[in-house]
Amino acid sequence: MVHVNIFDTTLRDGEQSPGVNLNQLEKLEIARQLERFGVDIMEAGFPASSQGDFEAVRTIAQTIKNSSITGLARATKTDIDIAWDALKDAAEPRLHVFLATSPIHMQYKLLKSPEEVIQTAIDMVSYARKRFPHVEWSAEDASRSDLDFLVRIITKVIDAGATVINLPDTVGYTTPEEYGRMFRYIRENVPNIHKVALSCHCHDDLGMAVANSLAAIENGATQVEGTINGIGERAGNASLEEIAVALNIRKDKYNFTNNLVLKEIKRTSDLVSRFTGMLVPPNKAVVGKNAFAHESGIHQDGVLKNTLTYEIITPELVGVKSNDLVLGKHSGRHAFKDKIEQMGFHLLPEKLGEAFTSFKQLTDRKKEVTDEDLFTILTDIQTAV
Ligand code: KIV
Ligand code: ZN
Repeated sequence: MVHVNIFDTTLRDGEQSPGVNLNQLEKLEIARQLERFGVDIMEAGFPASSQGDFEAVRTIAQTIKNSSITGLARATKTDIDIAWDALKDAAEPRLHVFLATSPIHMQYKLLKSPEEVIQTAIDMVSYARKRFPHVEWSAEDASRSDLDFLVRIITKVIDAGATVINLPDTVGYTTPEEYGRMFRYIRENVPNIHKVALSCHCHDDLGMAVANSLAAIENGATQVEGTINGIGERAGNASLEEIAVALNIRKDKYNFTNNLVLKEIKRTSDLVSRFTGMLVPPNKAVVGKNAFAHESGIHQDGVLKNTLTYEIITPELVGVKSNDLVLGKHSGRHAFKDKIEQMGFHLLPEKLGEAFTSFKQLTDRKKEVTDEDLFTILTDIQTAV
C-alpha cells in the first residue's frame, strides 16, 4: 500500500484567514495537539514575515519531536536564512520555498520571464539544500500554469536538490478531474519525478478543495496539505479532518496508509476553533455539531435500530463521545421514549402518551427541544395527580 504523508498548514496558511492572529503560546498549544493527531509535517509559520512568527516557529521547532517542522520562505536568500535560524533545532527541519509559475503571476506579480523564474527556482533550491536536509518547492498557482513549463521547471528543481514538489491550486479554481490529470501528467512526463514526494495543496474557493485533494492522491500525490476545520486564506484550505476520514472510511477506493490518530480529530478541531475564534459551522462535515445528529423521525428510528442505516462515520472514530438525537417536530414516539429513558424517566403507557403529546405541542413553537424542556414536561406529568 502507498503511504500518504500528511502536511498540516493550520499554523501558516490557516493563520492567513482574515482576522486570525495566533500568539506564540496558542501556536505551541495547537502544535502539541497536531503532534498528538499524528501529522507527519507541520508548517509552523512564515519566519521572515514577523519577529513574532519567527519566535513561534523556533519554539515549535525546539519542542515538537514527533513531526517534521517546516516554515515558508519566498525565493530569496534572506527568507531562507531567516527560516534556517528558526528551524535548525527541529528534529527534522525542512524548508518550504515557493515561486509562481502561471503566466499571470510571472508577468504581473513577479515581473520575470519564464526563463528567469526557472533560474531563480534552481538557485534558491540549491542554496536551501546547503542547510536543509528536506526542501519542498511549490509551483505557486500550478493549476493555472502551462503543463509543459511545469515539466521543465520541476525537472530542473529536482536536479537542484528539491525533495518534495508541491503543485498548489492556489486560487481554488480547478476541478477534481483537471487537478488529477495534472498530477498524472507530471508523474508521466517528469523523468526524475521518482526521486521526490509529490504534494497537493488545495484552496476551497469553489468548494472543491477536499475532492481535488483526493483526486490528486488517486493520481500519484504522496503528500496532502491542508488545515484543521479548513481554515485559511479567503474560502480556506482543504479540511484535513475530512480528507483523513474519507481515506479511512473509503478504503475500498483509497488504498493508502497514513499516520493519523483519528480519535484526536474532535479535540484538535475544538482547540483550533477556540484559539482562532473561527466557529465551526453546525453542518460542517466530520466536526460540525450536527455531523452526528439525526432530526427526522425516520432517521432516528433507523439509527436506533442500527446506526449504520444513517451513519457512515461513527462519532467514536473522530473522538465524539456519542451520537446525538435532536428532538424536534419530526421526531417520533420511539426516539422520544429512548431519549427520556436515557434521562432516567420510565413512564407508564398512558403517561408516556400524555408526555409525547405535550412534547409535540412544544415542537410547534420551538425548533429544538432541549433536555431542560423535556425535564419540565416530564416532571409536570410525573407530579400531576
Ligand atoms: O496556496 C498556495 O499556493 C500556497 C503556497 C505558498 C504553497 O499556500
Ligand atoms: Zn495555500
